[in-house]
Amino acid sequence: MPKKTLMCLSIALLTLVVWVYYNASLEHNTASLVPVNNNINTNYYIFNTILQPKNIICSESTLFIILVTSYIGHVELRSAHRQTISADDLQNFNITRVFLLGRIPQNEKYISQEAVMDESNTFDDILQGDFYENYRNLTHKHLMGLNWAATHCSKTPFILKVDDDTVFNIDTSYKYISQLPRTDNQLLIGYILNNTKPRRSKQNKWYVTYEEYSRQTYPPYLSGWYYIMHTSLAARICAEAKHQNYFWIDDILVTGIITESLKVKLKQLPENYWLEYYELLECCLKDMITKFIKCDYTVGPNGGRNNLINEFNKAYKLCDKWQNCTTRPADLNLKKVCILNRDRAIFSDGKAAEINGVKL
Ligand SMILES: *[C@@H]1O[C@H](CO)[C@@H](O)[C@H](O)[C@H]1NC(C)=O
Ligand SMILES: *[C@@H]1O[C@H](CO)[C@@H](O)[C@H](O)[C@H]1NC(C)=O
Ligand SMILES: *[C@@H]1O[C@H](CO)[C@@H](O)[C@H](O)[C@H]1NC(C)=O
Ligand SMILES: *[C@@H]1O[C@H](CO)[C@@H](O)[C@H](O)[C@H]1NC(C)=O
Repeated sequence: MPKKTLMCLSIALLTLVVWVYYNASLEHNTASLVPVNNNINTNYYIFNTILQPKNIICSESTLFIILVTSYIGHVELRSAHRQTISADDLQNFNITRVFLLGRIPQNEKYISQEAVMDESNTFDDILQGDFYENYRNLTHKHLMGLNWAATHCSKTPFILKVDDDTVFNIDTSYKYISQLPRTDNQLLIGYILNNTKPRRSKQNKWYVTYEEYSRQTYPPYLSGWYYIMHTSLAARICAEAKHQNYFWIDDILVTGIITESLKVKLKQLPENYWLEYYELLECCLKDMITKFIKCDYTVGPNGGRNNLINEFNKAYKLCDKWQNCTTRPADLNLKKVCILNRDRAIFSDGKAAEINGVKL
């Protein structure tokens, strides 16, 4: 064989080897960059429950089911919710309510499983999952609630998801939800958080590793304090969750990562719906009681005051009963007359480092 041909062949062979090797490593690289999404994540504790409500009525004439994420030890908070919206109220509104609990954690000394079973027997409104209470297990709790509602209340149009320390007015909530389109099975409305970034400092409670979440920013998501979702969307979210890795910040996974993957567009609640700071809510309530100025807001944080939800709803009811409350004068703007003592907003719970470029 002439030398020239041999050289040509060698070069061709070498090129082929390099090409094959390069492609193989490229494939390897992209494979490691793209999250493996085809395998089913069986890592969720959302199907096994210890306690379930037995006689909950949720038919097509039930407008919504209230899902309340509640720490098992928060007996007083659950009691405040039950006083605020009693069993009779639920029936009159044609709505229903379930509290979402986990197992008693090791460090909890003030409650026993017997007490929780008694509570469940008395009120029949507890769904207890088979996972230990821990903020890192909140995603199990959140998905367990959505899954239960989607399964047992599939004819009920909407889910209202709140936390046990959320203060909300039931009359205005009902009015708002009753005018929502029941046919929009993509409907998801709440307080949208845009451009938030993972906490990357190890000292932070909400510290997230790159393994847990690798992107620079979170997708837009809703504050888990209060949002409204179409029940059929809850079913799709639970189905999609199986294709996603577990991420322990529940509202980011459920209303952000999963909805992004389902291409669901988040909707914003009206502007005067939220009181972002506890102090604003306290002021709004005080003015309603002492000055008969009607509070025009529906949701806020309780600032650690267990009974605030009850007081807030009572004051609204008195305004309605006496019909003598006035609307707030423009010169008494709540955000101007009210003093904020603490930098504690309904959304600035430290889960995300930034909101719209503003450091929290
Ligand atoms: C509640 O549902 C019943 C039917 O189960 C219906 O007759 C009633 O009008 C409903 N009430 C409200 C306030 O929607
Ligand atoms: C979450 O719950 C599971 C199941 O009970 C438990 O094994 C795990 O330790 C819990 N996680 C945390 C961080 O407590
Ligand atoms: C986030 O963006 C949406 C639209 O993209 C907007 O409607 C909403 O007001 C924004 N939320 C906040 C808190 O700025
Ligand atoms: C509103 O009505 C209640 C009950 O009658 C009364 O106590 C209160 O003083 C009234 N407030 C105003 C501003 O008229």
